[in-house]
Amino acid sequence: MTPRLLTVDDLPACVDLLTRAGLAGGAANIGRYLRWQPDGCFGLELEGALVGTVTLLAQPPIGFVGCMAVAPERQGTGLGRLLLEHAHTIGRRWGLTTFGLEATESGAVLYRKLGYVTEHGSVILQRPSPPSLAPRPSSSADLAAVLDLDRAATGADRTPMIRDLASQFPGDAISVAGTLAAWCLLIGERLGPMHARDVGAGRALVERYAPATSLVLVPGPNETALRALIDAGFVENRRLERMWLGRIPDANVALQWTLASPGAG
Ligand SMILES: CC(C)(COP(=O)(O)OP(=O)(O)OC[C@H]1O[C@@H](n2cnc3c(N)ncnc32)[C@H](O)[C@@H]1OP(=O)(O)O)[C@@H](O)C(=O)NCCC(=O)NCCS
Repeated sequence: MTPRLLTVDDLPACVDLLTRAGLAGGAANIGRYLRWQPDGCFGLELEGALVGTVTLLAQPPIGFVGCMAVAPERQGTGLGRLLLEHAHTIGRRWGLTTFGLEATESGAVLYRKLGYVTEHGSVILQRPSPPSLAPRPSSSADLAAVLDLDRAATGADRTPMIRDLASQFPGDAISVAGTLAAWCLLIGERLGPMHARDVGAGRALVERYAPATSLVLVPGPNETALRALIDAGFVENRRLERMWLGRIPDANVALQWTLASPGAG
């Protein structure tokens, strides 16, 4: 049994499977992953039905794993391991040396078995009230400066993802003394990714956009970001584990205020 490449024709079946497996974030993102990395989206079929998915985004040197799901009635039968090992094989073929993900509790059991280690927790925070109408972001940053800050924050080259998100969703940035100090994107109800070099600029973006968003994912060790978001009305909902297989990337978590999503880092 070998996973096969998924295509846009599989989108409805993927969304159904990811929803049934409890991965709302994956269901929201799978269409984007199929666009960003069509050679990195895999599915397993049994008796004509899609029973498992996994996606791999190349963000050199990292391969970011997402949409790891097995149909509830097939879980515990080895399909998750098969899918993940397939993603590793493909990623190594591409020259990737580290695999990373944000793990749910049930996923972490499998990942630990395959050698992943936890770097830190990631916190999902939500605002209890639905977002009000998004204010029109006032400026868009110079993309080259955004990509530089993103690389410094994550230790990875995420150019295709950031470029595509920035072309489709509103964003904003604050410069201090001619240098990019903070930037963010607003992806529907989600505030993120957001990176900040300057605490005042980070807090200003949070205060500006918290009323228009209701969901963020924040690296647990970034207490400055957590404090700013809690002050702006966000409340902790649950935690994931940021896990790595291979060398942990040279990232700067203090710059990472909010993440793009569980499956995109
Ligand atoms: C996480 C998930 C993908 C694992 O897939 P799976 O097909 O159930 O896992 P497997 O059967 O391949 O199990 C692989 C190994 O992990 C172990 N394992 C998996 N889930 C386990 C659990 N909940 N408790 C204990 N062990 C578990 C298995 O015993 C197996 O060990 P072995 O290979 O040494 O025998 C699946 O449970 C799932 O879809 N969960 C809901 C969605 C989710 O949380 N996805 C993870 C997002 S980060």
